[in-house]
Amino acid sequence: MPKVLLTREYPPIAKDLLTKEGFEVNSWPEHRPMTPEELVANSKKADAILCTITDKITPEFLSQCSHLKVIAQFGVGYDNINVPEATKYGIAVGNTPGVLTDATADTAFALLLSVARKTLYVHKQILAGQWRSFEPNKRLGIELKGKTLGILGLGRIGTELARRCKGAYSMNILYHNRSKNSEAEKELGAKLVSFDDLLRQSDIISAHCALTTETRGIFNKEAFAKMKNTAIFINTARGPVHNEEDLYEALVSNKIWGAGLDVTNPEPMNADNPLLSMENVAVLPHIGSATIEARTGMARLAAENIIGFFKNGIVPNIVNPEYKTF
Ligand code: 8YV
Repeated sequence: MPKVLLTREYPPIAKDLLTKEGFEVNSWPEHRPMTPEELVANSKKADAILCTITDKITPEFLSQCSHLKVIAQFGVGYDNINVPEATKYGIAVGNTPGVLTDATADTAFALLLSVARKTLYVHKQILAGQWRSFEPNKRLGIELKGKTLGILGLGRIGTELARRCKGAYSMNILYHNRSKNSEAEKELGAKLVSFDDLLRQSDIISAHCALTTETRGIFNKEAFAKMKNTAIFINTARGPVHNEEDLYEALVSNKIWGAGLDVTNPEPMNADNPLLSMENVAVLPHIGSATIEARTGMARLAAENIIGFFKNGIVPNIVNPEYKTF
């Protein structure tokens, strides 16, 4: 039977499903990602790997592990995998869309509220013994009713955030995408605008795009300069989508009002990062999909991608359908 390497201890459903189907499963037991050398050494003994964001599936890795049949990503984003290179070796790559949509939209919504009302910052003040009295004119946040939400990358997760913002605060929805999202336009009255207009007109800008050469660093000095000085920037997509130095500068010089980040560059963020002590900044340790429901769903879909390949030649959530032609 095919051998599967689980690069971390994923929710048990992954191992259970694979074992039940007769696969030989080996899990990396340590609570840290493998080094590149360890990843190669362990993958050499497998026919398929179930991996995640911290496993860098580079051309070097692939040239040493070109025997692999399937790479099943635990996650919807797969920028850690060089997909064109995997395709060249005829390796199928699968991901786990859909199951983490609500969890990630909730994370973006929670960040938005945390920034608007400074909740993480004032909590730190309590811990530091700085809650001395009622403050009539301090710790003041801003309200969200009727504001304009601008989404870069209005797909599943962006749409769920838009639903929350429209439902809770009657927000107007703008978006910038490569293609029109007619369903969101119909359901939410979302309006497709240029990236420039998104920056200039939105009160909240939330990134939900994949990390690509186009989106890497798209939120830079120039972009922040175009945003309203009352704007809140939210990133639950990938850290490198924003330039951290430029973001910090935009915040300290009051070019924008606040920022909420579930993703940083690098991850983990250093504990002494100045963003962590800013009043209008909320940072979370990449917990977008960290609910029992989402992580269980991700483990299930990733295992099903491997099972589907070996049992009937179909990877249900295939990223590179063209792998077959190589
Ligand atoms: C994952 C994510 O938990 O799915 C994604 O793309 O960003 C997260 O929800 C993480 O990336 C592990 O793959």
